[in-house]
Amino acid sequence: MNKYNIMLLCASPRRKGTSAMLLERVRNLTGGDVVFLPQKDSLEEFAMTMKQAETIVISGPCYINTYPARLIELLETASRSGGFSGQKLYGIINGGMPYIHTHRHGLTTLQLFAEQNHLSWQGGFVLGGGAMLDGKPLENHMSRKKVVPAFNQFIRHIAEGSSSLDSLYEQAQTPPGRFVTRIFSKFLTSMVLKNLKKHGHDPNAPNWYLRQQG
Ligand SMILES: Cc1cc2nc3c(=O)[nH]c(=O)nc-3n(C[C@H](O)[C@H](O)[C@H](O)COP(=O)(O)O)c2cc1C
Repeated sequence: MNKYNIMLLCASPRRKGTSAMLLERVRNLTGGDVVFLPQKDSLEEFAMTMKQAETIVISGPCYINTYPARLIELLETASRSGGFSGQKLYGIINGGMPYIHTHRHGLTTLQLFAEQNHLSWQGGFVLGGGAMLDGKPLENHMSRKKVVPAFNQFIRHIAEGSSSLDSLYEQAQTPPGRFVTRIFSKFLTSMVLKNLKKHGHDPNAPNWYLRQQG
């Protein structure tokens, strides 16, 4: 693949995070440069550069069950100005939670964007447990035995320009069972309580919005 025809777009503000690490793995096979989504200023010019690529790979974190708002803003800007013509679009989304269903909405957003703007949706990869990696290699993932070959296969699809099925990442990750989920949720709740107290808040105080109404 001509390296100048691929755009590797990182939608995380963290330049050394998991989204960037995954894109770097893609870049090792496809070539091209990783570009970071500007976090300030207008996105008009940036949206124009997307149209010059033949293949676009977007990798970003899951923020409240989908991609960060700044990426949605880019998609809206690019959609308004139009001008896409068959560019191949792939998506990668990674989230902190060790699940797939809580992050998948990001890929659905990309698919809708592609369908409404004359791009060709080629599929994506959802990675749960991305926060634990925190930019470290995928070989450190808790499901590394299945996740690494699956992601490598996903990269080969990008390099070959073929589409990737959801089953590729679905079969590579098994969500934790009920018992582990319960322990995990208790742990996360205790972390939230600890942080609230650390910053001088009372965890048992009524909700801020309810206080305003009263
Ligand atoms: C504002 C914010 C919202 C987040 N929302 C979620 C979420 O809804 N679900 C989840 O699993 N992880 C969530 N996370 C965790 C990130 O998805 C996770 O840390 C991810 O690995 C960050 O990717 P990065 O290293 O590429 O920035 C959130 C993180 C932040 C900062």
